[in-house]
Amino acid sequence: MNAETASYRFAPSGPLRGATAVPGDKSISHRSLILGACAVGETRIAGLLEGQDVLATAAAMRAMGADVERLGEGEWRVHGLGIGGLLQPEAAIDCGNSGTSARLLMGLVASHGITTSFVGDASLSKRPMGRVIEPLSLMGASFTPSPGGRFPLMLEGAHPAVPISYRLPVASAQVKSAVLLAGLNTPGITTVIEPVPTRDHSERMLRGFGAQLEVAEEDGARVIRLTGQTDLQPQDIVVPGDPSSAAFFMVAATLVEGSDLTIRNVGMNPTRAGVVGVLRAMGANIEEIDAREVGGEPVADLRVRHAPLTGIAVDPTVAPSMIDEFPVLFVAAALAQGTTVTRGLEELRVKESDRLATMAAALEAVGARVEENEDGLTIHGTGGEPLRGSANARVKTHLDHRIAMSMAVAGLVSRDGVEVDDTSPIATSFPNFMPLLDEVTR
Ligand code: S3P
Repeated sequence: MNAETASYRFAPSGPLRGATAVPGDKSISHRSLILGACAVGETRIAGLLEGQDVLATAAAMRAMGADVERLGEGEWRVHGLGIGGLLQPEAAIDCGNSGTSARLLMGLVASHGITTSFVGDASLSKRPMGRVIEPLSLMGASFTPSPGGRFPLMLEGAHPAVPISYRLPVASAQVKSAVLLAGLNTPGITTVIEPVPTRDHSERMLRGFGAQLEVAEEDGARVIRLTGQTDLQPQDIVVPGDPSSAAFFMVAATLVEGSDLTIRNVGMNPTRAGVVGVLRAMGANIEEIDAREVGGEPVADLRVRHAPLTGIAVDPTVAPSMIDEFPVLFVAAALAQGTTVTRGLEELRVKESDRLATMAAALEAVGARVEENEDGLTIHGTGGEPLRGSANARVKTHLDHRIAMSMAVAGLVSRDGVEVDDTSPIATSFPNFMPLLDEVTR
């Protein structure tokens, strides 16, 4: 683990070539540990992302009594306790930088007779938790949050909890998943109504573990009904490569002339893969090879060849399917011909950092022309000319891994390189990002 800050200058690079594979999907990794811990018996996981965020979830499941063991690289074994079997942890649950650990674990604990505090780093302690406190309180859990509904907070679970029918006020898979996980140990049917679809890994995996879960389309919304307190069956899970991590390489290979890079085994779940469509609409050359299904999730190899990009107006309705990819899309837009307009991205202001403000400042520092609006950025691209910032500009990442990696990509297509103030947050989601980037640009 990288506890210290580490600045780094990402230099202009030659073409990205050959084949690579990114680590396992972060969302699926969290969920496999959590559901494994709720099943009776042994779940095996291959390709687990061993980033700090997922390790925080693993530590929390251990602290609540599950037997979670690392067998080898990405190979893990979870011996579950069964629904309702979680135990009182002895210390606070430390979620580090991870919003997913925070929201999902709060949901899980909310329907157990457990009282515990939740803590996180400076970034997580600024993020809104009211969005999960509200539905979980309706289910009977009690919360003592810090001012503004934030971490650190104390949670007293409800046992038994009360099933609710909850319409999501924000398009958030974390909120949806928190309510569904609370529903696992709640008698009766817990219902989540999703007016705007978000990533559906929880639903897919709950089904895979044998949960009684139904999804219907009603009045234009997705309605998810989960019957609580039925046993989960342990599974063998193969985690696909994370499309959000692959996106950095998709954009880098698209931007750097002469690139021809294959990224193997990328998760292509339609609720996640929006960035591929948007990049293609801008002119990117991304070919899907050997599209297949692995463990209930669509997967493909992606061959990405350099192509000039043209700015577009990004349809706001695609936002949930690429919510974590906007920082790197902004870098693509900064090198495109013409103007890219993004809207409907208020959620980016409450991620690991305020990603609209952070990316606007970072791109400006490296010479891009950016206008920041309340709900999006408008970016006037260079038409492929390298970014030319002041030579000693240093980009601020604000404890946000995706800002660090996006600006690393900007460095590859800059005249003088891009200095990132702190690369240590990269370890939360993509610990081997820098060696992989080195490997494919060598
Ligand atoms: C995640 C959902 C997204 C995403 C996060 C992971 C998940 O957050 O930004 O990185 O695993 O459910 P929201 O659902 O809050 O948008």
